Amino acid sequence: MVATDARTYQNYIGGEWADGRDGGTIENRNPANPADLIGLWPRSTPADMAEAVDAAVGAAPGWANTSALQRGAVLLRAAALLEARTEEVAAAMTREEGKTLREARGETTRGVAILRYYAGEGAQPVGEVYPSANTRTMLYTLHVPLGVVGVITPWNFPVAIPLWKIAPALVYGNTVVFKPAELTPLTATLLTQILEEAGLPKGALNLVVGLGHEVGPALTGDERVTGVSFTGSNRVGREIGRAVTDRGGKAQLELGGKNPVVVLADADLDQAAALTVQGAMMSAGQKCTATSRAIVERAVLEPFARKVAERVRALVVGDGMDERTQVSPLVSAAQRDKVVEYLDLARQEGVETLAGGEALEGPEYRGGYFVQPTVYANVRPESRLAQEEIFGPVVGIIPARDYDEAVTLANGVRFGLSASVFTRDIAKGLRFTRDIQAGIVHVNGETAGAEPQVPFGGMKGSSSYSREQGKAAEHFFTQIKTVYLDEPATPAPAAPFPVATDPTTMEREASE
Ligand code: UN1
Repeated sequence: MVATDARTYQNYIGGEWADGRDGGTIENRNPANPADLIGLWPRSTPADMAEAVDAAVGAAPGWANTSALQRGAVLLRAAALLEARTEEVAAAMTREEGKTLREARGETTRGVAILRYYAGEGAQPVGEVYPSANTRTMLYTLHVPLGVVGVITPWNFPVAIPLWKIAPALVYGNTVVFKPAELTPLTATLLTQILEEAGLPKGALNLVVGLGHEVGPALTGDERVTGVSFTGSNRVGREIGRAVTDRGGKAQLELGGKNPVVVLADADLDQAAALTVQGAMMSAGQKCTATSRAIVERAVLEPFARKVAERVRALVVGDGMDERTQVSPLVSAAQRDKVVEYLDLARQEGVETLAGGEALEGPEYRGGYFVQPTVYANVRPESRLAQEEIFGPVVGIIPARDYDEAVTLANGVRFGLSASVFTRDIAKGLRFTRDIQAGIVHVNGETAGAEPQVPFGGMKGSSSYSREQGKAAEHFFTQIKTVYLDEPATPAPAAPFPVATDPTTMEREASE
């Protein structure tokens, strides 16, 4: 049963593909069929990580001094290479992460768009010119690179998230150490190959595969790594944030969500039901932007719940490689077990199940990590089911008396990533955009999804209050240098005493 074509892959450090130093490996298996061994990757050690940081440090001055236009040109070539390899990258993603081929193609196409967007950023202004108190002073800012940055990414968007960190890091002049999730090293390898082929100089991007708790601290604790951008769980994110900021570094954290849709009585219920199901069930709910609560005005509770349940029961669960599949497996046994714990909790709490509620075992599932897409009715707002991120194909319906109660419930969690309201009343939609505590708000849309040209990130416990993507990425991946440029003193005959050129000196002299 074990695939025989499984090969051993390598790290990419200082422009060389190399085995991990101590030879340990990590197996990468297909979550739809764990007997399918995709390959072996280095189980890197802190020594490998230190070598990658050395390489990134060595390459930093050269890359920072490369024209931003040229840095953008590398990304543009990478976009073309990725586009040409869309099918291969998408198939790799489905095989190791599980998501359907359709979603994997969509994500790869998004990756191409991200690369193109940041290629264009290479031609954007790199500072501002300000008026000075002294009319002869040229006063301006330069947005300069941080130096070396660490990029630590999750398995759920193994192309889009690495690219929306790596592309801005590179175009703004940083060198990168990339530590992808150990569950999706194949897509990380393909992305690295593509960026190498696009013409990155040696050391500008370094790939280190390993287990987070083994190699992570060597990256987050290294003082030479000025910035670390992380997407993943709250627990790990807070640890990384502490490790980086304790030593004076800059951390960007994108963490969990508990994203609501609010369905008002005047909503188009078919639209609301369809987009709730899409937001909750695509990628088997493994998105930090997934819909996990549907907060519904009582007047439409029954028909909305019925429509959602009917749609969910009709979903086809299976291997993402099969074009008929709509709901893919969870990424790993651990992830499946975590979701199953919430299904057990729902049973203990006696929550009414409208659809699903069980893990899927049986021979046709070949030991894959499948869970039925699940809908719960009347979830108590204070229940862990309504408060904690489940990261599985599970949505809970919560009734609300009216708009005000719906907003209070929507805001009554520690997260604040994305949210949506369904209504035909644009005034209520607009009011919701003001009232909701979320970094991303939709009116009549799905909670998931993100376009590359706009900021992405959450409020409250969902982030470290920084934003990714669009121009917002520049805030994280650069620092500001302010330049006061004055003329050299005119040669003799000089004034008998030094000429004050800045207002603070002038004030001091005036008062003497
Ligand atoms: C999307 O909704 O398409 O990890 C992107 C996540 C988010 C990305 C969501 N950071 O799920």
